[in-house]
Amino acid sequence: MKGFNKAAKAAANPGSPAILGRLSALADPIRCRALLLLSSQELTVSEICAVLQLPQSTVSRHLKVLADDGWIAVRPEGTSRFYSAAVDESDPMAHRLWDLVGDEMAGSPAAEQDQLRLESILSRRRSRSLEFFSSAAEEWAGLRRELFGTQFDLGALPALLDDDWTVGDLGCGTGAVTESLAPFVSKVIAIDASAPMLEAARQRLSTQHNVELREGELERLPVADGELDAATLMLVLHHSADPQIVLTESARALRPGGRLLLVDMLPHDRDEYRKQMGHVWLGFSEEQVVELLTAAGFERLRFRPLPPDPDAKGPTLFVVGARKKPTPSQPRTR
Ligand SMILES: C[S@@+](CC[C@H](N)C(=O)[O-])C[C@H]1O[C@@H](n2cnc3c(N)ncnc32)[C@H](O)[C@@H]1O
Repeated sequence: MKGFNKAAKAAANPGSPAILGRLSALADPIRCRALLLLSSQELTVSEICAVLQLPQSTVSRHLKVLADDGWIAVRPEGTSRFYSAAVDESDPMAHRLWDLVGDEMAGSPAAEQDQLRLESILSRRRSRSLEFFSSAAEEWAGLRRELFGTQFDLGALPALLDDDWTVGDLGCGTGAVTESLAPFVSKVIAIDASAPMLEAARQRLSTQHNVELREGELERLPVADGELDAATLMLVLHHSADPQIVLTESARALRPGGRLLLVDMLPHDRDEYRKQMGHVWLGFSEEQVVELLTAAGFERLRFRPLPPDPDAKGPTLFVVGARKKPTPSQPRTR
């Protein structure tokens, strides 16, 4: 219904300049003070009452006039309603009018006082939320898990990636990593030697249009030199008879400065994994990984053991982030 009254007024006064129809809502100092507040901050009615020091019935009446005339918008949030200025983008005349009136109003003593009260009300809002968190600090970990689960941050973190990157998911298996990366980057090239794994990945990723599945070996990647901005080797390296070749190949496929993310197991004694799952290596130590990556041409290594998931039965994992060394003339990127 936004703009309904504006249209009705224009129709009721055919021929009169449209600006006259917009003047009446602004021709009141309380409404101008309210609009000024709402231009800088979304507020509830009780907050507006506290700033303007007026009863709720008065403030609500003025807000209704502003809302009916399209100067403010209302956003329901649970049991609260939040008000904000909404000077119609498609109405340059309204913009010019409010620029003029708002500037005049902002210099008035009443508006200056409003501004001071607004600041104290906002700081009360902040301290209410701090109060909640200081009393709930100890329970927050449990509450966070209860409300949102344990996975949501992992799903969100790939949004930190550059959206124009091409990322290689090397040894993609059924495509779990590709599935989390694809929505955030330009393209994912998912590579695996196993046709059944690739088929499962194809089904999982059928709705992702920026994923390319390629069949091939990690020791001879089906990827051009420097084609990748970043690559993951997730739970794969322990399968290779020659991890050095895999890492050197990964470096070849990355552009200078490109990033590698390697996740694998710390040294363990589950010898049965060799037979059960074809593991060649029973995990890797930090020293081994650092030596292999450095020899392959990576630098800026960040090795960290990953906190074990209480529900996981397998060995503890580590992560290493690394960058392919830039070419000598290339400046370091941050
Ligand atoms: C344990 S799965 C991990 C899959 C996936 N990265 C993940 O995190 O779910 C290992 C995958 O690596 C693939 N793989 C193992 N050795 C490989 C090699 N030399 N070349 C290409 N793929 C290989 C296997 O086919 C399998 O799909």
